[in-house]
Amino acid sequence: MRRTLEASVRPLATSVDGRRFSYQASLYDLELRIGGYVVLEGDGIARLGQVLTLKLDKLSTELTLPARAGGLPENRTQVQVRYAGGEGAILEGDPAPFHDALIRVATGAEVQAWLQRSGRPYANLPLGELALAAGVPCLADASGFDRHTFLCGQSGSGKTYSLGVILERLLIETDLRLVVLDPNSDFVRLGQVRADADPALAERYQEAARGVAVYSVGARGERRLRLHVAEIDPATQAALLRLDPIDDREEYAALAEFLAKENPPSIAALAQDKRPETSRLRLRLHNLGVDRFTVWAPGEAGSVLDAVHDQSVRCAVIDLGSLPTREEQALVAAAVLGDLWRRRQERSPILIVIDEAHNVCPTEPGDQLIAMAADYATRIAAEGRKFGLYLLVSTQRPQKIPANVLSQADNLVLLRLNSLADAAFAEAAFSFVPPSLIERSVIFRQGEGLIAGKISPQPALLRFGARITQEGGADVPPTWATPAD
Ligand SMILES: Nc1ncnc2c1ncn2[C@@H]1O[C@H](COP(=O)(O)OP(=O)(O)OP(=O)(O)O)[C@@H](O)[C@H]1O
Ligand SMILES: [Mg+2]
Repeated sequence: MRRTLEASVRPLATSVDGRRFSYQASLYDLELRIGGYVVLEGDGIARLGQVLTLKLDKLSTELTLPARAGGLPENRTQVQVRYAGGEGAILEGDPAPFHDALIRVATGAEVQAWLQRSGRPYANLPLGELALAAGVPCLADASGFDRHTFLCGQSGSGKTYSLGVILERLLIETDLRLVVLDPNSDFVRLGQVRADADPALAERYQEAARGVAVYSVGARGERRLRLHVAEIDPATQAALLRLDPIDDREEYAALAEFLAKENPPSIAALAQDKRPETSRLRLRLHNLGVDRFTVWAPGEAGSVLDAVHDQSVRCAVIDLGSLPTREEQALVAAAVLGDLWRRRQERSPILIVIDEAHNVCPTEPGDQLIAMAADYATRIAAEGRKFGLYLLVSTQRPQKIPANVLSQADNLVLLRLNSLADAAFAEAAFSFVPPSLIERSVIFRQGEGLIAGKISPQPALLRFGARITQEGGADVPPTWATPAD
């Protein structure tokens, strides 16, 4: 009896405001999924909706069982009837309230037709496939990258891979310039097409690939990752040397004087200056190892900061991973972010991509230089947008980047999270995304994700498409776990 009742629950939806709906459905052959697309049909009108919550509901009812042969009397009993219920958003269709519309899963063709009807005036970035509408491409609105974007997922969830997909598609479909702070040398092959890439995409990518310039310490000539101390702002110089302008005023002044010269002398030339504060400064440089940094390029023209502002460089990949020390990585990150910030009045749109942001600009910086990088990232997050400075930061845990960077992000790209605590943190920071969709991230598989915000006004669950270019530092294959013969 219970089974019959549960199987006969009709799939019906009701909306009292024409924007959201509530529904019920039988648990048997349940096809509705959180984030999935549905068609609501009633009174000859069809609407397209998206399921946002799905839960098990139950009600208790009293049944009267009939008298049976053999003198068994009529019997009353309590029966628990279980069914699925939840809520959703109406994406398209008559905005009037309705009651008892039949709800069913939308076909791929119906979702595709809706996407075509809601065509946007800006370029679409084909990031992959909608996870719950087979065969339907997931298109991000390229214009949405004029907001800051937060990409989050546990280690190994595919952040770097998916970030690569986003960057490739931006390079193909738009003219937006990119600068990539790449702490793990993961994007050093962003200009190299894979042998197994989709031929049509690979062909289109060739043009974009020519605009990708990778700056590494080991490269020769123009592409050598280098900096000149004189082009770094005073605050970053002081942080590098752990100088306090008040406590260490003599050394600080000696440094300023040294750098103010038209052709700043080499560090070795400092030895000629016998004043005590200069000697102390020289010792400080030496003790901190700053005089041995590989990024310095005395006598060489140009630097990575020129590349960041060179309009002919479409995408500058700054291979922080090629630098031998944490200090040098922090210095280059702070110098690049600081320089972008200082020259913001140029109003030249650029997407500043920071992979492993919890190392580049963490909530709790380990030293003054990292604090400078975090400080510039925070300033860009707060005020960069109106100057065309857009951030795309990627990290494993939302708590590990400054709250002010997170709170300024209007776009979310979420991959698998390993705890509901992280999901709850993301929910609080991205209140415009239905919490139930964010919670799903704990069951995402590798390559599955959620995009929401200006890049996807209707939050979408997706499966990221294949990379066109080679990955730089793919995971080490577990050959050591091959079964022994
Ligand atoms: N959508 C995908 N399709 C195929 N392979 C993928 C996909 N996403 C990730 N991978 C593979 O999974 C591995 C881990 O991915 P990736 O390095 O992007 O993860 P991550 O989140 O950046 O990890 P980490 O936090 O350690 O940097 C890589 O070898 C990558 O090639
Ligand atoms: Mg990564």
